[in-house]
Amino acid sequence: CHDPAEFRTALAERLAAAGAGPASLGLVPTMGALHEGHGHLVRRARAENDVVAVSIFVNPLQFGPGEDYERYPRTLEADLELLARHGADLVLAPGLEQMYPGGEPLVRVTAGRLGTVLDGASRPGHFDGALTVVNRLLNLTAPRGGGAFRAYFGEKDAQQLLLVRRMVADFALPVEVRPVPIVRDADGLALSSRNRYLDDDGRRAALVLPRTLAALAAGEVDLPAARARIDAEDGVRLDYLVVVDPATLEPAEPGPGTLALVAARVGTTRLIDNRAL
Ligand code: PAJ
Repeated sequence: CHDPAEFRTALAERLAAAGAGPASLGLVPTMGALHEGHGHLVRRARAENDVVAVSIFVNPLQFGPGEDYERYPRTLEADLELLARHGADLVLAPGLEQMYPGGEPLVRVTAGRLGTVLDGASRPGHFDGALTVVNRLLNLTAPRGGGAFRAYFGEKDAQQLLLVRRMVADFALPVEVRPVPIVRDADGLALSSRNRYLDDDGRRAALVLPRTLAALAAGEVDLPAARARIDAEDGVRLDYLVVVDPATLEPAEPGPGTLALVAARVGTTRLIDNRAL
């Protein structure tokens, strides 16, 4: 569906047809340019719910000036093929006017302090924009029939996942947030819609990110050595490499229960990755 109202009607029909008792619904919010990482979220949703819905919307609110909103890949045909293959029932793919009738929203979600550190420091307003659209998508999709409602988010975007959890708790949104582990290519690079911006050299250089995270996790390098290793890679500019307490994003001594987070620019492409230590 392109129109949210049509989508809601189609969802209600699917839920009613799903059988006896209130049916469960899984939602996977995406920006399209789908890959097997997204596919994995859909498979998890498929395994846990009667009905699976996916949204595809490149949300301008979460892109800063000079970021890649215009050039963000839009591949709807291929996306629909991938979603059918993974068993999605319904897809909401609204245009800008359909998503935000009357223009961009006046009232928005603010992510607070956790939205201003790490990726939020490098991308001011990004998490406010992401939470604003996730809030809208959750409210558009939430079933009214009393069945379970689950929304699926990747651990690849660890800060986003944490902030979505906080929003759901702080706003008492009637949805269960389900985290899904990072899906990687055979060479270790985390799947990302932005990987398609990389040329062969960029792709090779980008491997320093998962490899350095693995070395940190194995205790082969300390944090300064890990940073130096990324800095030394040709064509890679480190934004941050930190070890944090995953509940607060506060810096922590590397050790069990902590999370290493990295962001870097490979050529003009900004990539993020993370790994539990
Ligand atoms: P997008 O980047 O399309 O990602 C959609 C979902 O897929 C996110 O929850 C993301 O964490 C997950 N994902 C992406 N790559 C993954 C990988 N390699 N392994 C596991 N999960 C992965 O994140 C967004 O869109 C937007 O900010 C959105 C939440 C849709 C709001 O606009």
